[in-house]
Amino acid sequence: MDIDNQKFGALAEDISEVLLTPGQIQARLDEIGEKISRDYSGKNPLLVGVLKGVMIFIADLIRVITIPVEVDFMAISSYSPEARDQGMVRLVKDLESPITGRHVLFIEDMVDTGLTLNYLIQTLKMRHPASLEVCAMFNKNKLRLVDVPLKYVGFELPDRFVVGYGLDHRERYRNLPFVGLLKPQAFKKISDQ
Ligand code: IMP
Ligand code: MG
Repeated sequence: MDIDNQKFGALAEDISEVLLTPGQIQARLDEIGEKISRDYSGKNPLLVGVLKGVMIFIADLIRVITIPVEVDFMAISSYSPEARDQGMVRLVKDLESPITGRHVLFIEDMVDTGLTLNYLIQTLKMRHPASLEVCAMFNKNKLRLVDVPLKYVGFELPDRFVVGYGLDHRERYRNLPFVGLLKPQAFKKISDQ
């Protein structure tokens, strides 16, 4: 894919390779939306996302789901390296609605080690939802430390740091409509600022 330099100027300049084009992403979204609509028909599922990385995915996903759904969000603090090793995160925003007896579909942008996801899933399980499944747009298997069952996965990705489609490096690049690799100098450029 040719990156639209006119449109994304300085941001696109930092990308060395596009791994997933907007077209590929949309085609996969359509497939997942269809599956979820079929599996959850009549169940009024609650889609739960963790801010901020998931915002683009969840916004696109609910628009390809054709059954009634509700959406709620949590936010977690960025963790210290020590806490992160144990998979511990601090909830800075909890869900607005109770999930007891609800069919909850946890939406993740990216699963890497699985630590964050595992911690949040355990937290939600304690509230006794009727069911709890996970839908992840991107999955990297190489660094997985905890086994978390993923019911729906958009794309398997290599163990490389990617940006775009909601994923950031230091809060930048979330608005790129594709997923790409950052040039090494882009990592440096941002850390110099
Ligand atoms: P983990 O599964 O606990 O290691 O954490 C996954 C989280 O780390 C994701 O929700 C992202 O916020 C972040 N993350 C992991 N890999 C990447 C990447 O390649 N680009 C951007 N963020 C990433
Ligand atoms: Mg995230």
